[in-house]
Amino acid sequence: MNRRHLLLGGGGAAAALGLGAYAATRGPSYDAAADAVWVRQSPQQLSQLHYLVHHATLAANSHNTQPWLFSGGDDRVAIRPDLRRATPVVDPDNHHLYTSLGCAAENLGLAASALGRTSSVDFLAGEDAVQISLGGSGAAPDRLFEAIHDRQCTRSVYDGRAVAPEDLKTLESAARIAGCSLVLVTDRPRMEQILELILAANAAQIADPAFVAELKHWLRFNAAEAVQHGDGLYSACSGNPTMPGWIARPVFGLVFTADAENAKCAAQVRSSSGFAVFVSDRDDPEHWVSAGRSYQRFALAATALGIRHAFLNQPVEVARYRPELAALIGIGDRRPDLVVRFGYGDAMPRSLRRPVGDVILNGPA
Ligand SMILES: Cc1cc2nc3c(=O)[nH]c(=O)nc-3n(C[C@H](O)[C@H](O)[C@H](O)COP(=O)(O)O)c2cc1C
Repeated sequence: MNRRHLLLGGGGAAAALGLGAYAATRGPSYDAAADAVWVRQSPQQLSQLHYLVHHATLAANSHNTQPWLFSGGDDRVAIRPDLRRATPVVDPDNHHLYTSLGCAAENLGLAASALGRTSSVDFLAGEDAVQISLGGSGAAPDRLFEAIHDRQCTRSVYDGRAVAPEDLKTLESAARIAGCSLVLVTDRPRMEQILELILAANAAQIADPAFVAELKHWLRFNAAEAVQHGDGLYSACSGNPTMPGWIARPVFGLVFTADAENAKCAAQVRSSSGFAVFVSDRDDPEHWVSAGRSYQRFALAATALGIRHAFLNQPVEVARYRPELAALIGIGDRRPDLVVRFGYGDAMPRSLRRPVGDVILNGPA
């Protein structure tokens, strides 16, 4: 995993501790939990709100904190930030948090289309809410809806194959959202330059004890921890060994090193076909939501084409690297929001979500 998607120094630490057997399986309880989260729900069996929120919560979200609260009625759903789930060290201005709400809003609108309803998304600054207004029946289902259950962040080494130009065009057009643009980088020299920034920012984050402590708080080192919480970053989702928390937590700081993590990042980038960098027109929550929507559409279109992707956001998270990244991709003084690599590879274990009932507030939107 790139730094947060760690790790534990690969299999070395686990092997040294004689934990191969423990690490070998995810266990039936994890698979059952993942099956329950990613099940294709039938609209006949659920209320409209439950159906829409189920699909919204399958969206990408930073650290898998699921920082959202939903409320709504027949014609409107609101998504508000759950600030108890903020990550103030890696995300001091809540940029990633609002971007995550945008990802959820996009999935929610796509699910509405599967119910035949039109939708439009607005950011209500006064209410600090993303509002999805639902229109009348008769909308055609958006084809991206079908990919919601198969999308995942795939944090493995890919196979190095290039994505064909016509597929890149499909991704660009799927990602089109007002207030945000997408820059694709597929030439190797510039990919190496972006990699340099990723490695420098990654080392800066790993050298920061507060960053490491926050990350560790959201790591789930084994299936039981992951299932118990239904959130956070489960190590197997990044291809890393699992082990008891009482062993993993004390040794984490020793094996989570810049050298080890940077070697993984370099292999991941060099096996990828390109980078997608999402850039919002303005640096405020409304536009961060747009960036999240754009990413989610990109990710779903990629999934439908069999193209994998994963974030490597270090150079947008460590603020001092943003200007250099902006210069590299020619976006003037706009803020680069998200850095995503893409390419071809095998699926990884799915991540978990909390129950839908835990994120729905009673009362009108
Ligand atoms: C705004 C945002 C920032 C993210 N940053 C990273 C990142 O830097 N590295 C990474 O590996 N994943 C990152 N992720 C991916 C999340 O960790 C992932 O979506 C979450 O764990 C759920 O897993 P899934 O997307 O496979 O369902 C980010 C996601 C979002 C929406």
